[in-house]
Amino acid sequence: MQHEDSENGAQAPAKAWSGRFAEPADRLMQRYTASVSFDQRLAEFDIRGSLAHARMLARCGILPPGDLEAIERGMAQVASEIREGRFEWSVAREDVHLNIEHRLTELVGDAGKRLHTARSRNDQVATDIRLWLREEIDGLLARLRAVRERLLDLAEPNAATVMPGFTHMQVAQPVTFGHHLMAYFEMFTRDADRLADCRRRVNRLPLGAAALAGTSFPIDRESVAAELGFDGVCENSLDAVSDRDFAIEFLAAGALAMAHVSRLSEELVLWMNPRFGFVDIADRFCTGSSIMPQKKNPDVPELMRGKSGRVFGALVALLTLVKGQPLAYNKDNQEDKEPLFDAADTLADTFTLLAELLGGVTARPDRMRAALDEGFATATDLADYLVRKGVPFRDAHEIVARAVREAELAGRDLAGLPLERLQAFSPRIEADVFGVLTPEGSVAARRHTGGTAPEAVRAAIARARARL
Ligand code: ARG
Repeated sequence: MQHEDSENGAQAPAKAWSGRFAEPADRLMQRYTASVSFDQRLAEFDIRGSLAHARMLARCGILPPGDLEAIERGMAQVASEIREGRFEWSVAREDVHLNIEHRLTELVGDAGKRLHTARSRNDQVATDIRLWLREEIDGLLARLRAVRERLLDLAEPNAATVMPGFTHMQVAQPVTFGHHLMAYFEMFTRDADRLADCRRRVNRLPLGAAALAGTSFPIDRESVAAELGFDGVCENSLDAVSDRDFAIEFLAAGALAMAHVSRLSEELVLWMNPRFGFVDIADRFCTGSSIMPQKKNPDVPELMRGKSGRVFGALVALLTLVKGQPLAYNKDNQEDKEPLFDAADTLADTFTLLAELLGGVTARPDRMRAALDEGFATATDLADYLVRKGVPFRDAHEIVARAVREAELAGRDLAGLPLERLQAFSPRIEADVFGVLTPEGSVAARRHTGGTAPEAVRAAIARARARL
């Protein structure tokens, strides 16, 4: 429930800091500076952080035990009001922190007013974001894992399915579809590693830094960190309240992951085009056209490609936000939330849908194989064959280039030229050459680790399953 105080209605309720000011806040200024419309999303983390703070204050003898009891009782009530949508959010109370503290004080009186002892909203908000982001990262890691599992499920039956591999978007050499998919498995594995690594730096407790300089109360930060599941505390109070580099790292990792999703999406769009026809995408991920009855559009991969821009934008927004700020906290930092929330939501939805989408992709091996009859994909194999017969590679390259030109003029593939014609280019060519001119022979020869041979791809898939 959002309680917007009317533009010309009654005076807004007094601010938590209004004692210092001679006139009330202007309405637009109030809306402009408030964050409650979006940071209410942090409520459950704010409450968790406040309870851990209050318990520490009580343990350290800073807060009477009776007050802690009142705070715990009041917070339980606040939490249920929020969960059930009965909480009255007020723009006049600026942000999630002051809204919750205000309601707590309504419920339990002075104990609520003592909660903010030895704390500032500056270390409070930094703590909330870290708690929230840690949970988001854990959710994203689970979703990325599902994406990687679906890639393996699709790669496995296609470990020997040959298709053209491309460079410069031109037919280059035969690869297997399974090998191509495993390239994305590697990318998403690194994305997951980056997120997990970033989580280590997210998982540090800012509380105790207070506004910027720490606090004069005898607090115990380590115990708060332990209760909230942090690996430790932020070492420097000025740094703790002012930097958002942990969020920028998260966005950088997320942006890269979206770049990978976008590349895969682009390939799916191309492969579904009838000119390729390499895959079918299940109807549930496509839509029709309102004017062209024949259309089946790959909307989901198109949107994934498009939504990558949101996450890139969030990264640039936060870098820009931080770069001009003198130490320590500045209100600029309030602008970190909307891009962060939007990026995390975009990543979560995209990974979830991508895993489902991969389950709806069907390979069309016949179409992939047919595409290999054009483009001379085995030309390198012929050159390698000549090298094995003693021809220096550069000469072999030239010999094959001339053979390709002749085959092209004849409208055939290299394997379609008769042996005598091939021998006119080099007397070292013998009847066994046709074994290397097939796509199957070409891929089978690349059986080293990281190669495209079906046995190498199956081994890569087995290693990948063990890694997951
Ligand atoms: N809403 C603020 C933010 O998101 C909370 C911290 C405000 N601190 C302050 N001193 N105004 O950053």
